[in-house]
Amino acid sequence: MTVRAILAGTGSALPRTRVSNAELAARVDTSDEWIVERTGIRFRHIAEPDETTATLGADAARQALAAAGLEPSDIGLIIVATATPDNTFPASATKVQALLGAPDCIAFDVAAVCSGFLYAVSVADSMLRTGAAKHALVIGSETFSRILDWEDRTTCVLFGDGAGAVVLSAEDVEDGRGILATRLHAEGKYCDMLYVDGGPSTTGTVGHVRMQGREVFRHAVTNLASVLGEVMTDVGLSPDQIDWIVPHQANKRIIDATAKKLGLPPERVVLTVDQHANTSAASVPLALDLAVRDGRIKRGDLVVLEAMGGGFTWGAAVLRV
Ligand code: ACO
Repeated sequence: MTVRAILAGTGSALPRTRVSNAELAARVDTSDEWIVERTGIRFRHIAEPDETTATLGADAARQALAAAGLEPSDIGLIIVATATPDNTFPASATKVQALLGAPDCIAFDVAAVCSGFLYAVSVADSMLRTGAAKHALVIGSETFSRILDWEDRTTCVLFGDGAGAVVLSAEDVEDGRGILATRLHAEGKYCDMLYVDGGPSTTGTVGHVRMQGREVFRHAVTNLASVLGEVMTDVGLSPDQIDWIVPHQANKRIIDATAKKLGLPPERVVLTVDQHANTSAASVPLALDLAVRDGRIKRGDLVVLEAMGGGFTWGAAVLRV
């Protein structure tokens, strides 16, 4: 008997308001040309006051539940990956649970910034395989617009808001489906390269995103190519056997450089950074949902997820859909 966490459903949610580079350039000293050339970003969604990490996460979760054919009462575990929770506590996962009307279950947040969804998937995978729950909702949800310094053009043009969700279900699989491997990493010595300059225990304020862009870029390409190599070795497959790679959507240049290092053609890379910008922990499940819904990712495909973010933290997962 092989119990694995299989992908049972996906969902996503975006704030109502979409902002183009040109609209941003009207309030920040930047241009559509600079943003597109350096990042590939064209649009981002920005949350209105009534749209929060928990409400977006719950909207994405409802879609994922519907896709899986499940009810909130079927869920035994809710994990929300976020760096922008509604409140310092309680965990946004408990707010999502309340919004869904889900009864008593396990619910907590994971904080690993842009890699948060990969960390959450890995934790859920372990918990499902060891019997803690039968069905899990794993959500990446962010309202990064709330922690951006709108005077700092080197960061504020890069991020957007949104949420993505998956239902993972423990199943006794015989057909090779499910999560086949996950790998996680962190190197805290780089925590000053990408961080928020506030917090409850230091300044008592929420703070703003600060980043050394060039250093982040350099580490991202190296670390992502290396962790992708690790997970493919774990499953005994070569990169040419990957049907789809769903990367963290930070910057098209990082995505292109990583794919090139692995020898993966651009046709097998899911790209949403142009439409959503960097939605941190939400970017991988958002992109995954899009590619599942438009029919690119199909049952039986070998899919690789990867992300890197503040900490630095990074990780990857291989799954057969
Ligand atoms: N509009 C116009 N000009 C700008 C802007 C802007 N929004 N931002 C910076 N500039 C200017 C700078 O002031 C600088 O001008 P100068 O040469 O006169 O001093 C010039 O553009 C070049 O700036 P650099 O920072 O050197 O530009 P670079 O080519 O490194 O691109 C970028 C910056 C896009 C941030 C890049 O470093 C990057 O993508 N890094 C990765 C960061 C990232 O994706 N972080 C997300 C979180 S981590 C993760 O998810 C992996």
